[in-house]
Amino acid sequence: MEKLLYTGKAKQMWQTDDPDVLRVVYLDQATAFNGKKKEHFAGKGEAANAISSLVFQYLIKHGIKTHFIKKLSPTEDLVKRCTMYPLEFVTRNVIAGHFAGRYGLAEGAALSEPVEETFYKSDRLDDPFINESATVALDIADHEALAQMWAICRQVNDLLKPLFARAGMQLVDFKLEFGRLSTGEIVLADEFSPDNCRLWDIKTDQHLDKDVYRRKLADLTQTYDEVLARLQAVVKEEG
Ligand code: ADP
Ligand code: TMP
Ligand code: ASP
Repeated sequence: MEKLLYTGKAKQMWQTDDPDVLRVVYLDQATAFNGKKKEHFAGKGEAANAISSLVFQYLIKHGIKTHFIKKLSPTEDLVKRCTMYPLEFVTRNVIAGHFAGRYGLAEGAALSEPVEETFYKSDRLDDPFINESATVALDIADHEALAQMWAICRQVNDLLKPLFARAGMQLVDFKLEFGRLSTGEIVLADEFSPDNCRLWDIKTDQHLDKDVYRRKLADLTQTYDEVLARLQAVVKEEG
């Protein structure tokens, strides 16, 4: 019998007959500011799942180990069950969002090298920043695991920056999550969609990500559909 394990802010995780496999359901829901702002958007789950499935398949094709098994339906995937690290790995290529606010900078300038920041995943605490020594001292992850996860973040950035550029979008920043399989192997998990990255149109700087909802700039589902159409065109061209 399938059991609902968890309802998050954007997805549900369901148990399957296989203890090592979960069914993910993408919800027609967007939240911001750690759930303080929340709204229903018809078609959002389908668009986010389509983008995330396409990106995970692209990463797998280029050698990244991930939790993704297959897309089941427009809003559902099968994934390998992980014990998640309660960490958010943020990589920034361009000054934006909280980074701009924290240091009193305007958004938009390219960073001379990618900035890497880790946050402790906790809605209650508003996902506070956490450094490597605290992560290790609190037994959240050891140095070796952190090095492995950051190495994957760099590979993902090197693969996705050019992919999005070919689709006319700048990959400004993004957040990744990792987990351990029952074998102990660390894999990229969760999702990659405009919910957890910033994408700006290369020509116009138009926002093509969840900032359209956070900042009330445009229709969220239409924006995600645009990102999907652009990515599909590029991936189709590449064969
Ligand atoms: P949140 O928990 O931040 O509200 P979601 O609504 O996206 O986020 O819920 C998905 C949850 O499932 C997240 O907590 C995420 O860490 C977790 N998760 C993602 N991939 C896996 C996986 N392969 N195995 C177990 N848990 C996962
Ligand atoms: P930030 O500038 O708000 O810190 O966001 C950096 C990146 O991380 C951006 O691409 C959005 C993503 N992100 C999440 O996926 N979840 C979060 O809870 C936050 C705050 C940011
Ligand atoms: N991921 C957080 C939320 O959904 C914060 C954000 O994206 O702004 O509430």
